[in-house]
Amino acid sequence: MSATMLSIFSVFLLICAAFAASITPPSQDPWYEQPSNISDYVAGEMIRSRSVPPELESFLALPLNVSVKAVYQYLFRTTDSLGDAVASAVTLIEPYNSDPSKLVGYQAFYDSANIAAALNLGWWVFTTDYEGLNAEFTVGLQSGHAVLDSTRVVLDEGPSVGLSRNPRYALWGYSGGALASIWAAELQSSYAPELNYAGVAVGGTTPNTTSVLQTINTGSHAGLAFSATYGQSKAFPNLTNWLSESLVPSKSAQFYSIASGCLSQATSQGSGQDFFTYFKNGEASFNEDVPRSIHKWSGQMGLHGTPTAPMFVYKSTGDEISPVEDTDDLVKKYCGAGARIEYHRDLVGTHETEAISGSASALEWISDRLKGKAVESGCSTKNVLLSSLSAETVALLGEELFALLQAVLGGML
Ligand SMILES: *[C@@H]1O[C@H](CO)[C@@H](O)[C@H](O)[C@H]1NC(C)=O
Ligand SMILES: *[C@@H]1O[C@H](CO)[C@@H](O)[C@H](O)[C@H]1NC(C)=O
Ligand SMILES: *[C@@H]1O[C@H](CO)[C@@H](O)[C@H](O)[C@H]1NC(C)=O
Ligand SMILES: *[C@@H]1O[C@H](CO)[C@@H](O)[C@H](O)[C@H]1NC(C)=O
Repeated sequence: MSATMLSIFSVFLLICAAFAASITPPSQDPWYEQPSNISDYVAGEMIRSRSVPPELESFLALPLNVSVKAVYQYLFRTTDSLGDAVASAVTLIEPYNSDPSKLVGYQAFYDSANIAAALNLGWWVFTTDYEGLNAEFTVGLQSGHAVLDSTRVVLDEGPSVGLSRNPRYALWGYSGGALASIWAAELQSSYAPELNYAGVAVGGTTPNTTSVLQTINTGSHAGLAFSATYGQSKAFPNLTNWLSESLVPSKSAQFYSIASGCLSQATSQGSGQDFFTYFKNGEASFNEDVPRSIHKWSGQMGLHGTPTAPMFVYKSTGDEISPVEDTDDLVKKYCGAGARIEYHRDLVGTHETEAISGSASALEWISDRLKGKAVESGCSTKNVLLSSLSAETVALLGEELFALLQAVLGGML
């Protein structure tokens, strides 16, 4: 294992440990309980709120100790993948010396250091529990709805704690967080037409979950296939049944053990596994009607609408989780339908390194959107190199984050 991989791996481990040690888990905290009259609430309506101690690392799994002025949580109504009313939670963070006219919805994955960068710039940040209370990992519809409804509740409730009445707001996410953000951007015009994002920045995109399964199988990320399949099965009763009928009985317990671990556990236990050997019909299992319908309905981007907000898309051409060609195709499809996209293909690095190295450009792009700077119409694609990190972006990131970046990227900078 290279030094770079080793340090990335320790960031993963750290995050798992932080989750394990965190305050009362949501499943045991009555604050998260979904009310029995959930369907009496409208989408995006607050169910309850609370203010929590402003120590981010205890619940955001940050590898940094970031002190902020205030942290609020809102439980709100959203819509699950079957169209039913469900509750989800969002955390709103006010940094010190904030600019209350700037708000970013950062959909966290394992790269939460970016939250710290956004806070550093004085932006208010909200981060959505986009998998919902059942941890429905990689479920596009539910994730997209949750991001849109969390934006609604933050815009409605934020002004009573100091956010502007009319802030500029943007979305940002990487990998699983990008999945939630892109689904939100696709669904926005039909589900939340009143929202007006200044921009949506997404990296490490996974446009096609079927293709992701094939790409990661037997590699170091094979564990994601277990978590994703399990996450999707929780959202769709027909997939729950299909999964229990299709798993090889002698391997079923091991499947669920890998699938239900936290991300770094799933990554280490699932590493190198041939995921398809867990299924009676091997890889062909995924061509059966039920998984095929779900992967298309809630795993394929580009079929539910065209984003109206301008987008910044960044992706390493060496991404080993989702082939860059899938993102090329998605961008082409959106652009053909009138989207405005600046697409950076990074010729250096992998899915993990891009999470960090691409964040500087994303941050700059979002910063321009929050200042109200107009985007050019249409689309542009640029091949970039890691070395395009300028002194200006380093200043933007702040020294502490830059040090983290260096630690993670090691000799690549
Ligand atoms: C749901 O029920 C609670 C408890 O009875 C009540 O306070 C609340 O107003 C109800 N919410 C809606 C939207 O009807
Ligand atoms: C984080 O920073 C705060 C304020 O500087 C400090 O009180 C706290 O002990 C720190 N926590 C950790 C885990 O380092
Ligand atoms: C998604 O990926 C699968 C597997 O590579 C492929 O068969 C399918 O055509 C792709 N779907 C789209 C819409 O590109
Ligand atoms: C499985 O359930 C989903 C959601 O209700 C539905 O869209 C899909 O068509 C179903 N698949 C099959 C094969 O019936």
